[in-house]
Amino acid sequence: MPARKTGYYCSACGHFTPRWLGRCAGCGAWNTYVEEAALPAGHARRVTGTGDPPLPVTEVSPVDGQRLSTGMAELDRVLGGGVVPGSLVLLGGDPGIGKSTLLLQVAGAVGSAGNRVLYVSGEESTRQIKLRADRLGTCCRELYLYAETSLEAVEEQVASINPELLVVDSIQTMFGAEIASAPGSVGQVRECTTRLMRLAKERSICVFVVGHVTKEGMIAGPRVMEHMVDVVLYFEGERHQSLRVLRSVKNRFGSTNEIGVFEMSGSGLREVANPSSFFLADHGRRDVAGSVVVPVLEGTRPLLVEIQALVCPTSFGVPRRMTAGVDYNRTALIMAVLEKRLGLMLGNCDAYVNVVGGVRIVEPAADLGIALALASSFRDRVVEGRTAVVGELGLTGEIRPVTAVEKRIREAAQLGFARCVVPRQKDVPAEAGLETVQVATLAEAFSLLFS
Ligand code: TYD
Ligand code: MG
Repeated sequence: MPARKTGYYCSACGHFTPRWLGRCAGCGAWNTYVEEAALPAGHARRVTGTGDPPLPVTEVSPVDGQRLSTGMAELDRVLGGGVVPGSLVLLGGDPGIGKSTLLLQVAGAVGSAGNRVLYVSGEESTRQIKLRADRLGTCCRELYLYAETSLEAVEEQVASINPELLVVDSIQTMFGAEIASAPGSVGQVRECTTRLMRLAKERSICVFVVGHVTKEGMIAGPRVMEHMVDVVLYFEGERHQSLRVLRSVKNRFGSTNEIGVFEMSGSGLREVANPSSFFLADHGRRDVAGSVVVPVLEGTRPLLVEIQALVCPTSFGVPRRMTAGVDYNRTALIMAVLEKRLGLMLGNCDAYVNVVGGVRIVEPAADLGIALALASSFRDRVVEGRTAVVGELGLTGEIRPVTAVEKRIREAAQLGFARCVVPRQKDVPAEAGLETVQVATLAEAFSLLFS
């Protein structure tokens, strides 16, 4: 690769210009120039390398150093058992969702455990953070607050304080002097991430970086950083509800399908150790058509969620379909199967499907639950007797096996369910106090519950 000059490169065709242009002179695309800094002479831009020669894999020592506990079991599990020293973790999420709160609690917990923490904020003054820390009860001697947006200053302080944990809130407010464009631009975000990454590797410290999901299609948001960092976590939830879900979408040191569940309270985020009971808080007090409980699997952990459907006649020409928490196209497919295999005429009905509590289900194992919720609402028949259902639906109306069926059944039994409808498969265990019913087709499940 030829040496990069300081200036602007088109992100579509790579065309170079020393001055910013609105339209690329190479390919004609608009708004594609991104600023990049030239490498200082003789400075190899090494991010993770150590300069060691290649080694046989059997002679490489595994991760050196212990993982650092964040003091929150939910977060530790999502990270794969704590933070690995020398790694950079990106925490993304909408503004106001609670990223700063989470990291301040982590900073407090790590500080109380006797490790030095530097909390850098480019968004709030140290007094604001202190107020919040007081409220969260996370003040301790080892926690250093620093309100700064200059990356050079942060690097200097890291060198003098020598912390084990560095928190940078947020990447969009940081700027490096080498790049002229404003903080929050793609060039700055990229440059600052690279330098923080190098800082983490060189000094072997844990770095947490906050990235706001920006309105403009995530242009200078966490998306441009995802490929550079070690771990990407997203903090999700409805701002008006108290439930927050922490999801890992990339993890170089662990599995990516774990979630952590938190509740936002007056005194910060509280871990929800038993999310099923949270999601089903008022289920069972209502006996209404269109509600079905499904044991889904989030990572290695089973979770009981309530799927609600509402089917009603269309009053205007084209039927309306809306889903929240489940995939729209998957729901359309399930409705087609219901129509074809069970003869439910949904074609001139509006249909709405919602997952209670703001959870998002991606597993096909929820298919049967969605189908039965729709059928229940269409027929106006209640699914009786504290029943949970699970199963993947095939196009011919067959119910296909699901993974980890024993975990799902156990979770349902623990939460007081009396019956669980599952696919016909081999490893279905008998659980005390719970009747398991195996079904092979959608029609079988339908007649079992609604006849
Ligand atoms: P914040 O962590 O500032 O969000 P972010 O850094 O992601 O932008 O959290 C903001 C919201 O959290 C704010 O609307 C108030 C709420 N909150 C609580 O409900 N309880 C608390 O103890 C704290 C600190 C914040
Ligand atoms: Mg914040």
